[in-house]
Amino acid sequence: MACVTMKTMLAEAKKHHYAVAAYNIIDYLTLKALVETAEKLQAPVVAQVSVKTIKFWGYDAIATWYRQLAENASIPVVLHLDHCKDLEVIQKCIDAGWTSVMIDASSYPFEKNVEMSFKARELADRAGVTLEAELGQIGGVEDDMSVADEDAHLADVEKSIAFCKQVRPDLFAPAIGTAHGVYRGEPKIAYDRIEQIANETQIAIALHGGTGLADDVFKKCISLGCAKINISTMLKHDYIDGFIDYRKQQPTDYEPIKFIQHQMDHMILNIEKIIKLFGSAGKA
Ligand code: 13P
Repeated sequence: MACVTMKTMLAEAKKHHYAVAAYNIIDYLTLKALVETAEKLQAPVVAQVSVKTIKFWGYDAIATWYRQLAENASIPVVLHLDHCKDLEVIQKCIDAGWTSVMIDASSYPFEKNVEMSFKARELADRAGVTLEAELGQIGGVEDDMSVADEDAHLADVEKSIAFCKQVRPDLFAPAIGTAHGVYRGEPKIAYDRIEQIANETQIAIALHGGTGLADDVFKKCISLGCAKINISTMLKHDYIDGFIDYRKQQPTDYEPIKFIQHQMDHMILNIEKIIKLFGSAGKA
C-alpha cells in the first residue's frame, strides 16, 4: 500500500468520524514499532518527524527507512514533517521523499503567517504532497520551539476562515487549548472553536498536544472534526522507560537486541491503545 499523502486518508477519516494517529518518530525503531502496529491493526498511520530529528539523522536516512517499511506494509503510511518554519527544510524534505509537510509560521503576525504558509502551499503543490498549517499559538515545547503559557493563544474563528481561504491547507492546526508536552493541569479545550472552524472551513483539523488528553476529550475532538491527532511525548517516555525497565529487570544483560525488543514492546502497548481509541483500526 505504501507511501501516500494525507489527502485520501484525511477525507476518509473525516467522512467516517475517526482520526489518524500521527506519531513523532525518533529513529528506525520507533518507525518500525509504529508501522508494524498499524499494520497489525490495519490502520492508516502518519509518521511525522521533528526538525531536530532530521538534523540528527539526515533527510536520506529517514526517507530510506520510511520507504523500506512503508512499501512493504499493507497499510497507507504518510511521512510528514512536523512544525517547520524554514521553507528550505520543507523543500529538502519534499525532495528526499516526504509525502506531507507542515509549515508553522504561527509565531509571526497574521499576514506574514499567511505569506509564508502560502509559499509552502506552492512548494507542496509543485510536488503533489499535502500541507498542514497553523494559526494561533499552541503552548508547550515541541522540538526547539517553546511557547510560554502567557504567549499561547487560541486561533480566532474569523481569522481561521480567512487564513484557510488564502492558504488552502489540506490540514489545519488551529490552537484550541491543547499544549505540547506534559499537562500541568486540566487543559481547557475550546470545543466550540473546533466545531466552528471545522464547519466553516470544511478542512480537516489537526489536534496537537495529544499526550495526556483523556479518552473522552479525544473522542469529542474527533466527533467535531479532528482527523489527525499528534502524539510525541508519550512515545518518548515509552522509548526511554522501556529501556530503563529492562535494565532494572536484567541488571547484568548487555545484549542490545533484547533491550531494543523490550523498548519496542513497551511502545507498541500504547500505540495499539491509541489507534483503537482514535477509531482508525480496520480503516486501512
Ligand atoms: P505531545 O508531545 O503533547 O504528544 O504533542 C505532540 C505534537 O503535537 C507534535 O506536534
